[in-house]
Amino acid sequence: MIWFGGDYNPEQWDESVWDDDIRLMAEAHVSMVTVGVFSWSMLEPSEGNFTFEWLDRILDKLHAAGIRVDLATATASPPPWLTHNYPEVLPMTEQGVRLQAGSRQQYCPSSPVFRRLATRLASEIAQRYAGHPALEMWHINNEYGCHLSHCYCDVSAVAFRQWLAIKYATVDHLNEAWGTAFWSQRYGSFEEIHTPSAAPYFKNPGQVLDFDRFSSDELLECFRSEAQAVRAISPGVPLTTNFMGFFKPVDYWKWAAEIDVISDDSYPDPADPDSPMIAAMSRDLMRSLGSGKPWILMEQAASAVNWRDVNAAKPEGMMRAWSYQAIARGADGVLFFQWRQSVRGGERFHSAMLPHTGTDTASWRSITQLGRELVDMPASGDRISPASTAIMFDWDTWWSIEQPGLPATLSYLELVRGWYRPLYEAGVAVDFVNPASDLAAYKVVIVPSLFAAAASSIETLAAFGESGGTLLVTFQTAITDESGQLTPGGYLGSLATTLGVRIDEFFPQPHRHEVQMNGPLGRGVGTVWAERLISHDAEVMAHFTGGPLQGCPAVTRKSWGAGASWYVATEPDDRSRKAIIEQVLSDGKVEESGVVAPAGVEVAVRGGRRFIINHTDREQSFEVHTGHGADAPQKHSLGAYGVTVLAEQGALVL
Ligand code: GLA
Repeated sequence: MIWFGGDYNPEQWDESVWDDDIRLMAEAHVSMVTVGVFSWSMLEPSEGNFTFEWLDRILDKLHAAGIRVDLATATASPPPWLTHNYPEVLPMTEQGVRLQAGSRQQYCPSSPVFRRLATRLASEIAQRYAGHPALEMWHINNEYGCHLSHCYCDVSAVAFRQWLAIKYATVDHLNEAWGTAFWSQRYGSFEEIHTPSAAPYFKNPGQVLDFDRFSSDELLECFRSEAQAVRAISPGVPLTTNFMGFFKPVDYWKWAAEIDVISDDSYPDPADPDSPMIAAMSRDLMRSLGSGKPWILMEQAASAVNWRDVNAAKPEGMMRAWSYQAIARGADGVLFFQWRQSVRGGERFHSAMLPHTGTDTASWRSITQLGRELVDMPASGDRISPASTAIMFDWDTWWSIEQPGLPATLSYLELVRGWYRPLYEAGVAVDFVNPASDLAAYKVVIVPSLFAAAASSIETLAAFGESGGTLLVTFQTAITDESGQLTPGGYLGSLATTLGVRIDEFFPQPHRHEVQMNGPLGRGVGTVWAERLISHDAEVMAHFTGGPLQGCPAVTRKSWGAGASWYVATEPDDRSRKAIIEQVLSDGKVEESGVVAPAGVEVAVRGGRRFIINHTDREQSFEVHTGHGADAPQKHSLGAYGVTVLAEQGALVL
């Protein structure tokens, strides 16, 4: 069985509604609900006074109906009394504005008062419900950092100094790492350092990068404080906190090791044709964060959200297709925000499993149909074995490559998506790895712009490329070290030898500019970036034609016996990128999925099962190649937003 359910906020409703909720949950085959995420003010209406009786009643009712509970520690939205009594808990923006209560997440992550009160509430809840028979899992806080990830207040400044003192030990080491000889920024003591609030011009890149790391770590400390308290009282019960896909402020690699069940909230835009690819990438990250452990799709929308300019509804079938996509890419649970659509508050127009318009609706029919199907769908429970292909993803790089004052304004996520897309379209399974990952399991590793690279990361990549792995590295890799400093004497470090190239000068391309390319890969076009690249002993697979870079290599390949190391000095157009990826997969001897499907039809492999998902609003057909010599491929078709699952031998099981 795959978990099925959603956030349940019974405190928004009169208790007379609860029985109806439970009856309809049973009708929808709901197996797990997340309770209490935003109920701090209802559980602790004034400081130190706890009112759990209402929560007792609803948990008992859920248990009687056989519905399991992912119980929240309720700390995501501090109640008004808290910031009234302790106004210093209110966070401050970069511009020095104090954010007020009246929305949610209005707390400074470094606030000792917030941590103390949040941890106390988590402990009280754990004590009361550790033995409750409905308890399946603990849900710590909610979407850490979603609205407030960086706080610039004085309390944060004190914590930042402590963090820096631990990292650097002496202020001289800090001065060295941040390069404070530049612009007269030398610090005489840690006391002189502040959070990098609004400033007249470019801030110190090292300070900003450390502040990003500190801010992610401070949220992690909030999580740890609650998690430790809950674990001490309720050992053995798994614990989660919900991630948000590729979320820049929080380094999920660092967090993942401390979380029993990885879970994710995912709200792709139904109006964006790229959404299936974007969602697939997040789902692959979630599986990779847990090293292949099944994860839970903790929140998605039954239909529209309410926080875009225009909130497109999901056409019939899309919600089901995206749910199966999550399962195909490692999820063992599909949950929604939220169970019953609110009639009050800021999210009245966010869709829910049970819509305003009731049960005689297309949306409710889709929910109950999916709930029914997932009862019979086996959860793997097991770790999913690594894919053959990996993409490197690194938060230090994300924080560094998007700072101001660089050769061009680049979007790290766009660069990574650019390389994920052709793999997604070809149905090639992809894991994400980080610079500290063991790469031994992979045949192909793609490194899109690992801008900030420690010497050890460069060595890992060089060793992978030189010992039989197939490596693809793109421009703006190994440009700075981990503190943002450049190494005099050139870019790429020892990767220059692995790749067989040297960079002479960057030629970033203005918006909409195109550079022409030609060579063994055929004619193509590059955008965004180019460089004057010199090949030492790499084969030139494409060179720039025309303009100041006429004749310079654009794409190179250096053979290392069993594998090859590729370098790409631009953002290639779709056709060129596809040609590069085909060659790289062939260098790495990556096996194909055996399914040939048209654009818009996704192929994802989980264990022995292949999921085929039609993301288009038309019928589509696809072919399954059995791999038995001259056997003719089997032809199948799928209706609009249809899903099918193939067992190993090619039989349809859904
Ligand atoms: C997030 C939150 C939910 C809700 C949804 C709306 O995922 O966790 O509480 O606000 O967004 O999309």
